[in-house]
Amino acid sequence: MTRVIYPGSFDPVTKGHLDLIERASKLFDEVNVCILTNSTKKCPLFSVEERVIMLKEAVKNLPNVKVETYKGLLIDYARKCGSKIIVRGLREMTDFEIELQMAQVNKEVSGDIETLFLAADPKFSNVSSSVVREFASYGIAVDKFVPENVLEKLKEKMNMM
Ligand code: PNS
Repeated sequence: MTRVIYPGSFDPVTKGHLDLIERASKLFDEVNVCILTNSTKKCPLFSVEERVIMLKEAVKNLPNVKVETYKGLLIDYARKCGSKIIVRGLREMTDFEIELQMAQVNKEVSGDIETLFLAADPKFSNVSSSVVREFASYGIAVDKFVPENVLEKLKEKMNMM
């Protein structure tokens, strides 16, 4: 039985994330999607609780996918859930530079936790949570980038702001 971790900030989850989660769920027995803190990203739009609700709704059709949160290091979460494989998506070269460093550090510190990269589908290579937040804040349609349930939450959030 191979359990992998698909970690991220998911603020909010996008169609690009969901494509990778679905593909990982076909390759591995179990996928733990874990919301962690990215210390370089300040002032999230959605609370962790809101992100969990959106993610759970978006993956409810994938029985081998679980959504969790963890306050701390990704490698500690990996130990806790008994997985040695982290899955990350690569959209472009700038992703690769950041992701390679993160994978190497996580391997070096843990000793045995590997990162596997999945190439993003080109139709999602320009999709990111930050683009979604930025466009939505200016009232630009983001229905191409996020699932229906996230679109609704974004509209609610923007009306509150
Ligand atoms: O969606 P993101 O923001 O690209 O995800 C990055 C994330 C949350 C996976 C990364 O920042 C992370 O692993 N945070 C947990 C803290 C940690 O383990 N830091 C060491 C990584 S070098």
